[in-house]
Amino acid sequence: MNEPFDIDAYIGKVPNFPKEGILFYDISPILQHPPALAHVIQKIQHHYKDQPIDAIAGLEARGFYFAPALAIAMQKPFYPIRKAGKLPGKVDSQSYDLEYGSASIEMQPAPQLAGKRVLLLDDLIATGGTLQAAATLLQRQGATVEDLCGVIGLPFLNYQESLASFRIYTLINYD
Ligand code: PRP
Repeated sequence: MNEPFDIDAYIGKVPNFPKEGILFYDISPILQHPPALAHVIQKIQHHYKDQPIDAIAGLEARGFYFAPALAIAMQKPFYPIRKAGKLPGKVDSQSYDLEYGSASIEMQPAPQLAGKRVLLLDDLIATGGTLQAAATLLQRQGATVEDLCGVIGLPFLNYQESLASFRIYTLINYD
């Protein structure tokens, strides 16, 4: 791995999106620069190289930018967790709180994950509500979820508290 690599240079900062007062972290430039995307994937892979990870799970939509690439790099199966109503057939659902109201995410039954260690990946961890709901879905399949990874962390939104029972790895944090 070539260090140092300034991943911050590949994350756009967009004020007042999606609404007034919110600073949006835009990871699109990472995707448009293969060395940056390779760096992100290699760094996550390196972080977990000694961990007994059996599978990768990732979250729609922006988690999908990274999780399948990591799954290829780590040669592990990938399990998508989607927003409600997108997956066919029988699904398990878990709702979680948003700033106003709630949302739910779903996954297809995966009994083959029982007893397996799943690394859960998303692009960004803010309040932690999305990852908590995703971990709950995986745990209901019998999976062991100890490790959560976000490319970006926003610790000022206190995800460390809501996700206190997990190990959390982020590549870059913004306060
Ligand atoms: C964003 C982000 C994470 C989640 C983090 O997704 O990609 O999944 O919010 O927030 P939290 O830690 O407070 O739960 P969003 O719901 O905007 O959906 P998208 O990926 O489809 O854009």
